[in-house]
Amino acid sequence: MTEAETAGKGSAPSATRSWSPGLEGIVAGETALSKIDGERGRLLYRGYRIGDLVERGTYGAVANLLWTGDWEPNHRLPTGPIPAAAMTALRALPKDAKPMDALRTAVSAWGATQKLDWPPTVEQARALTSFSPSALAAFTRLRQGLEPVEPDPSLDLAAGFLYQLTGERPDGGTARALDAYFVVGAEHSFNASTFTARVITSSRSDIASAIVGAIGTMKGPLHGGAPSEVVDQLAKVGSREHAEQWIREALDRGERLMGFGHRVYRAYDPRAAALRKVAESMEHKPDWLQLAIEVEDVALRILAERHPERAIKTNVEYYAAPVLQGVGLTPDLFPATFSLARHAGWTAHVLEQAATNRLIRPDVIYVGPDERDLPT
Ligand code: ACO
Repeated sequence: MTEAETAGKGSAPSATRSWSPGLEGIVAGETALSKIDGERGRLLYRGYRIGDLVERGTYGAVANLLWTGDWEPNHRLPTGPIPAAAMTALRALPKDAKPMDALRTAVSAWGATQKLDWPPTVEQARALTSFSPSALAAFTRLRQGLEPVEPDPSLDLAAGFLYQLTGERPDGGTARALDAYFVVGAEHSFNASTFTARVITSSRSDIASAIVGAIGTMKGPLHGGAPSEVVDQLAKVGSREHAEQWIREALDRGERLMGFGHRVYRAYDPRAAALRKVAESMEHKPDWLQLAIEVEDVALRILAERHPERAIKTNVEYYAAPVLQGVGLTPDLFPATFSLARHAGWTAHVLEQAATNRLIRPDVIYVGPDERDLPT
């Protein structure tokens, strides 16, 4: 019997085989990249605590750690150039295209300009991770009728991204806040988008194809689309006094509260804790941060009351929203910015998958009609 067969979860359409909806609880591989302890609310990248990495690391050093296994605190990662074909593709997009669609298109066009031989390499991972912030910044300017800004190799990736968005070098505090967000978002084990990247890699496809697929998965509101919805949700809640009634009514309508719940964490998401600290220490924090903190308490209380059987706590997206808005990003850029941060983890998983590759091809239970003749 396979893991899936012994898991014993979900409905069992066959007498002998069962399955786990959403593959929950199924072990689908091994990784040395990150460890999530959902019960205790802990997250480690190659053994190092996320809180320590946020306080003492940079995104460049963390990405290098994920790719190589080596901790080199001074390792730098600036943004990279945009090949002409990718820029042409970005210019051809409608101005109202979703930033996630623009990023996915840009990565695909980038892949078409590279010689991405098998197996994928650290150099490919670095080049793609450096390219994507430039591409997203370029699209954001093009849709505003502005020309893209060339990368500044003296800036680290998060600061470089902000510079290419605005044409102005960010102050140290703003750059540091976005860098901290990038560190927090860099890697998170076998989540849906990472698993997508690994499945694509397992067919010996290239790193750009894997990241295109990962971006497609990340785009869904159950995965990376939540932080922009956190902002909408808080706008609807409006005030601390209105929170209790609004939340109860939303849950009665069967809606989900954005920024709460997680497939793995049963304790408070350590990334949310790290980002709350960053948000509270920001100079330019959004004026609704205090409301978010107050609404969080009410939401946690009501979720606990409604789901006594399953702890539903704050997730990373809740406090990603004030950090991203605080550094000047508009909510429609949040999912794509999260994807930029996740490039380090996605590409590290591509390298890890390739190093021990076996084609990922799960089994399935057939529930369709029995063999039959076509109607005459
Ligand atoms: N609001 C209201 N109810 C919830 C929430 C929530 N945020 N999260 C879970 N529940 C409910 C579910 O509706 C479910 O009840 P039901 O089966 O009667 O509908 C019950 O709690 C159990 O849910 P789980 O099994 O814990 O949730 P699952 O693992 O399927 O989903 C997910 C996890 C998708 C993150 C979910 O919690 C959710 O939709 N949250 C809101 C969206 C969000 O914040 N997404 C970002 C996640 S973080 C990330 O991907 C980077």
